[in-house]
Parts: sequence; structure tokens; C-alpha cells
Amino acid sequence: MRVLAVTVRVASDAGSTAPPRGTTRMPGTRTLARPLDRAALRERIAAIPSVHLAHLPTPLEHCPRLAARLGGPDLWVKRDDLTGLAFGGNKTRQLEYLFADIVASGADVVVAGAYTQSNWCRQITAATRKLDLDAALVLVHGEKGPERQGNLLLDELMGADVTVVDIDDIQRLPPLLREKAAELAAAGRRPYLVSPFELGVLARSSVGYVAAAVELDEQLERAGVHADHIYVAGANMTPAGLLLGMRALGRDTRVVGISPVRWDEPREVDIARIANATAELLGIETRLVADDVTSYEDYVGPRYGVVTPESREAMRLAASTEGLILDPVYTSKALAGLIDHVRRGQVGAGETVVFMHTGGTPAVFSYAPELLARSAPL
Ligand SMILES: Cc1ncc(COP(=O)(O)O)c(C=O)c1O
Repeated sequence: MRVLAVTVRVASDAGSTAPPRGTTRMPGTRTLARPLDRAALRERIAAIPSVHLAHLPTPLEHCPRLAARLGGPDLWVKRDDLTGLAFGGNKTRQLEYLFADIVASGADVVVAGAYTQSNWCRQITAATRKLDLDAALVLVHGEKGPERQGNLLLDELMGADVTVVDIDDIQRLPPLLREKAAELAAAGRRPYLVSPFELGVLARSSVGYVAAAVELDEQLERAGVHADHIYVAGANMTPAGLLLGMRALGRDTRVVGISPVRWDEPREVDIARIANATAELLGIETRLVADDVTSYEDYVGPRYGVVTPESREAMRLAASTEGLILDPVYTSKALAGLIDHVRRGQVGAGETVVFMHTGGTPAVFSYAPELLARSAPL
């Protein structure tokens, strides 16, 4: 692993927390198309090239002890932490579609980047191993830096070529990724650069969560359950796919995204744009506007990647009632949001909630000091 202190060349978008200029496009008008049935939507999904990486379907688990402690809704947990690929998580579903494009490109090395405790990069690395490719990761320092724990430890175990750069802002990553790809190309490799903010990458990945919506819908029907709400830790691709899938099937279930991060661009605008690009890719008529999206940024805490008293207690509660291990960066904040919404009466005691466990659990081990800190019990 190399640790670099870098001076980042300032591209026109650097310093901004919004996606690079040119990718921002306000979503158009809402289209409530005639609902598709599951078979028809599955057919559209199957037309998108994919590679097999995930263990599916993931279990839908009833969690009555956690529900009782919340004092309210019937609670089911969709275990997408069990999708496979080096500890699983939501990214595995997304990578099935992204890697089809990577394999088709003839690349021999995948260049990707995010924070050092990135689940995305850990799962990308695992996928490269399954598909006989190499991984070159450029990781920004974030909260945990080059400490070889959690996801970063796994990246190294899997043999990724890791460079840690001493910056905190992920928005400054694209030029560094381009530099890495150019360096590999100059050495005779065939790099595929996964651009973190490119709409095509986001939409292709989001197809994985349209498929998850279909899978969940079938499980709910079999269990005889109507979900009033789905709570999900989501920055953009995951809630976009889930919401699009639910609306394309004509379901009225509220999809509530709890964001782990605050960006300049409202999450609602980003999620609607990605959902619409995904719909276009799938050739389905449903279109959403920002007002159709529900997303909260209230549970991030001071910044991305920081454990809050509420997220720590949410994590302890899930662990102590159901043996359910959440993660410190994403899912614990989503559960903190759900707990708060139950307390405020936004989620009724007689309602049913599906909590989407999107994974991220390897990061638990790099957050031991924060997780062991004492705070008032719930
Ligand atoms: C564990 C976990 N949950 C949720 C998310 C958010 O996913 P998305 O960016 O697809 O909305 C991520 C993203 O890295 C994640 O790692």
C-alpha cells in the first residue's frame, strides 16, 4: 500500500460538493405509467447485461424483539448484508450490472476510488478477483485513514493495488483516478475507470435495486405482508433503484432514504435523476420528480463517517435484540432515523416497515473505540 500526500490539481468541479458540471440535469415530469407486473419488469431487467456475483434472494427476516423495543411497527429486515462478495452488502447487486460493462470492455484492471473504509471498493476488489481482473484503488483519507482494518484490510488481503491519498474530500478524486488509469495504460495495461459521479455508472448500478424491489415484493406477497415503509441507508443509487422498482410495479410503499452524507445537491434531485436514467435504460415509462423522493439528511451527524450517539445506540439495540450487526457509517444511521420517526409518530405503531440492511459490516472493526464509548441507553 502506498500512502501519498498529494497536491490535487484543481479541476473546475473541485471544491464543490455537487456532481461535476454537465451531469446535473433537473428531472422532467412525473409519469405514472400503467404498472408492470413482476414478470414484465423482470424481463426488462434481464435484458440488461449482467454477470453473476450475488447470493440471491437475500432473506427477509421478521424482527419482533427489535420492533417491541421500538415500541411500534411490525419490522422486517431485508438482509442485503448477506449478498456475498467478501462480506456482502448492497454493492454486490449493483456490481452485477457494472461488471458486465467492465468485462465487455476487455479491460484487465479496474480503477476505482472512495474513502479508505469504502464498501464499494472492497466489493469491487472482490468482484475483480472472481472475474480474473486486477483492482487499483485510490482512496481518500476520510475518518480512518491508512489504518489497516475493516475494509482496507480486506482490500489488501485480496491483493488490490492501494494508494491512499491524504485528502478528505471525495469530490476531488476524479483527476486522481484519471491519473492512475493513465499510469496503468502507459505501462501496457487496459484500465477501466469507474467514474464515481457519472450518470451512466449510477444508472447501470441502480438496476440492481430495481431487481431487489421485485425480489422483495415477491417475498412480501408470500409472507402476506403489506409494507407501508421501506427504510434504507441511501446516498443515491440504492434508493433510486428501490423507488423506481416499487413505483414501476404500482406499489404505494413509502421508500425512505436516510442519507449517510450531506452533499450540496439535494438528494431528492439526484435520486430522481438516477431513477429516470435507470428507467430509460430499462425501457420502462415510469418517470419521477424530486417531490416523489423522500430522503433525510438529519442523521448524518457532524459529517460522513462519524459515529453519533444515536447511531451507536441504534447499533447496540439491533445487536442486543436480534443479534443483527449494523455498520457504523450507513445502516446504524438509517435505524437511528427510523427510531426517531417512530418516536415522532411519522411511523405508526400499527404499520409495517421493511428495514433494508445494506451491509457495510467490515467497517465495524475499524470503529471499535467509537462504538465502545458509553452513552445513555435507549
Ligand atoms: C453499507 C452501505 N449502505 C448504503 C450505501 C449507499 O448506497 P448508494 O450510494 O447506492 O445509495 C452504501 C454506499 O457505499 C453502503 O456501503
